[in-house]
Amino acid sequence: MTDPRLAVIVLAAGQGTRMKSSRAKVLHPLAGVPLIGHVLATARELSAAHIVTVVRHERDAVATAILDLLPEAIVVDQDEVPGTGRAVELGLAALPVDFEGDVVVVSGDVPLLDAGTLGDLIAAHRAESAAVTVLSAVVDDATGYGRIVRDASGSVLRIVEQEDAGADEREILEINSGTYVFAAGALRSGLPRIDVANAQGEKYLTDMIELLRAAGSVVEAVAAPDSWMVEGVNDRVQLARTAARLNAMIVRGWQLAGVTVQDPATTWIDIRSTLAEDVELLPGTHIAGATTVARGARIGPQTTLTDCEVGEDATVSRSDATLAVIGAGASVGPFAYLRPGTELGDKGKIGTFVETKNAKIGAGSKVPHLSYVGDTTVGEGSNIGAGTITANYDGVNKHATVVGSHVRTGSHNVFVAPVRIGDGAYTGAGTVVRKDVPAGALAINVAPQRNMPGWVAQNRAGTAAAVAADAAGSEATD
Ligand code: UD1
Ligand code: CA
Repeated sequence: MTDPRLAVIVLAAGQGTRMKSSRAKVLHPLAGVPLIGHVLATARELSAAHIVTVVRHERDAVATAILDLLPEAIVVDQDEVPGTGRAVELGLAALPVDFEGDVVVVSGDVPLLDAGTLGDLIAAHRAESAAVTVLSAVVDDATGYGRIVRDASGSVLRIVEQEDAGADEREILEINSGTYVFAAGALRSGLPRIDVANAQGEKYLTDMIELLRAAGSVVEAVAAPDSWMVEGVNDRVQLARTAARLNAMIVRGWQLAGVTVQDPATTWIDIRSTLAEDVELLPGTHIAGATTVARGARIGPQTTLTDCEVGEDATVSRSDATLAVIGAGASVGPFAYLRPGTELGDKGKIGTFVETKNAKIGAGSKVPHLSYVGDTTVGEGSNIGAGTITANYDGVNKHATVVGSHVRTGSHNVFVAPVRIGDGAYTGAGTVVRKDVPAGALAINVAPQRNMPGWVAQNRAGTAAAVAADAAGSEATD
């Protein structure tokens, strides 16, 4: 049920210079979702009546991603006035003029803050009838953060930014997480009065604390249960640390749900993937994107599955697959490369050093060794010989190969597409299949073999081969 008295403003207009990236910071992926996607998901969990996002840097890419992730979000552009205070002022202006509830302010670059912690913050804020409640955190190293300045009795006086703090204030280890709950009315009256007279020449949202206190309003700061929850991603070191922490939580969640994870440290599971009970993940496995793995399947070691669907009891070993469907009881790898559009039927096999693309391989059919199979349909119960290549590309267009059911193709065949092999047909080893093969036929086009006795003794005299041939009783002919 939506809370008509709750709005969320997500700040995402900052430059993110420390990422040193051509990509906007909030669009860097974390567990397979852009950073800001985690924040938007949390915002949605709060059931707020309005979710406003403020953008500026890389505006179009960020706005597109936001609307993709959360179509009901309101996107607001920040103008040339810099600072978190200006961002919130513009976000507030996008809310209905008569909105009189609470405004939660969060940063688009703080992905691990969960809805439960925010819910507690909102509850504390409402219980105190506060004008603002800041989520703080106690950290070991407060460098770079705004500090919470309290008086002797513990009441919050103000927040001072690193750049503006005196030596004593820099000793404070309680920091501002950049997450707040404000009474909408307090923001409306206070924000226009904040100036940019500070070390960074920005309109600081944090100046609201001192201003509200001076007006006699209730000002609170509540510490987060753990400081990692409020850690922002400002550079790639923090990005990796945040990703590892989130992954550890995701892996643990699946372990408790019945998934065996042999080596949590080298197993990565994206947040949109799902795993059934009794799935087994071996070391070095990445379950990426929106992959689903059914009960009893065994994945890894050293395997990446991106947006795949894996059936019950299937096995995938040392392989890479994207947008592939792997049937129940099927086996893939070791060392297979399944590209988009691969569909392997139940109990099928795509074996060692096999690459597939847009290939539908029917139930029980096998491509066991050293092959490329593209733009191909294979029926049921067929066996594709070792070293088979579908020549699907004529340099301009792609063409299809259609193999029927219960076909046996020989080793080292080339299927020059477009070509069709009928049900139950055979092809000989080394066949270059240029014409359709009718059902039940054997296709061969290999040239007759000619043996030249004594050729080695004559042409390679004195070599180890000649000595071995001589010992085997081979005679030179003239
Ligand atoms: C801010 C806080 C600081 C706090 C820290 C927590 C202020 C003045 N300071 O500092 O007290 O400890 O966050 O991480 O608020 N943003 C905009 N528009 C802007 C500037 C920033 O939307 O003009 C957004 C950023 O995209 C980001 C968030 O606001 O999501 C915080 O901005 P950032 O530059 O990281 O603020 P800090 O200087 O770290
Ligand atoms: Ca920050």
